[in-house]
Amino acid sequence: MSFTVLGTGSYAPPRVVTNDELSTFLDTSDEWISQRVGVRQRHVCTTETAADLAVEAARRALENSHTLPEELDLILAATVSGEDVSPNIACMVQHHLGATCPAYDINAACSAFLYLMETAAGYFARKRVKKVLLVGAERMSRILDWEDRSTCVIFGDGAGAAVLGEGDNYLASKLYTRGGDDVIKIPQFIGKSPFFQGQQLSPYVHMKGQETFRFAVNAMCGDVKELLDQTGIHGEDIAWVVPHQANVRIIESAKRKLPIPEDRFFVNIDRYGNTSAASIPMALDELNRAGKLRRGDNLVLCAFGGGLASAACILRW
Ligand code: ACO
Repeated sequence: MSFTVLGTGSYAPPRVVTNDELSTFLDTSDEWISQRVGVRQRHVCTTETAADLAVEAARRALENSHTLPEELDLILAATVSGEDVSPNIACMVQHHLGATCPAYDINAACSAFLYLMETAAGYFARKRVKKVLLVGAERMSRILDWEDRSTCVIFGDGAGAAVLGEGDNYLASKLYTRGGDDVIKIPQFIGKSPFFQGQQLSPYVHMKGQETFRFAVNAMCGDVKELLDQTGIHGEDIAWVVPHQANVRIIESAKRKLPIPEDRFFVNIDRYGNTSAASIPMALDELNRAGKLRRGDNLVLCAFGGGLASAACILRW
């Protein structure tokens, strides 16, 4: 026993920032960002918190799956940009939905939604749950240095959610971690202890872009190939690849290396930017609501990012 996805939801704040608008205060251009990253615009919060985005995406997923908050047995959430260390985002979702089940967050940066799925699969296997809500939500705009053009043009804000129910549709999965803080790091406030000797690093995304790029392509291709081999599913039998939307060139590079037809790779980074833990559930919801997913379709989900961590799974819709 694993699970099946019963429904999805997503939400992005209404304020849209185009590349041209960024060019008014940064030494950058629409041409550079579109060509090197694939982003044309991103949504950013003006008054909303990451938890607000999470709650709205969760509400939409409950509605889409015809699930009531009191039916939920577990809420798992993920963020790297939540305003509060505690309460975590999952607790705030539980509170605003009026649910009563246990709720907690898992931190695995951009790969986190797939770590939530793997954790949920364990609960289903042990028959501890019948319905689980997963949410990825980010206010990346809070943790960006808006004077650093090599990072701030990439990311966006948003949230995505899915409701899982009993089933056997989580066919295979892989999690990979290559721990270390030399490639991607998002420091917190180190505190005011008079005894601590460490130095405060700026509390924004620090990323070595090209090393991240290389890790991303290798991890994505390695993880997905391993799962195809393990399940014996052929590339032509994959209806959609839903990759983490980090950079369109990472997705293009993976397309050339994976034995899956190129038109099956879903891309929406042009409209949302990289929304970290929200990127995969937002993409899944867009496909779902556009009527592009049919029951029985094989989907590949794959992600990579801070940790460094990566993850992939094959899911039957
Ligand atoms: N506008 C204009 N020029 C720019 C910009 C910009 N926004 N940003 C960088 N440049 C310049 C650089 O200064 C450099 O100039 P130089 O040659 O004069 O020194 C030139 O463009 C090339 O810079 P590179 O860093 O080599 O550019 P690259 O093609 O590698 O693109 C990028 C950078 C977009 C960061 C890319 O490496 C990338 O997407 N990496 C992966 C990011 C990713 O996947 N992140 C996901 C994980 S994040 C997480 O987990 C939180």
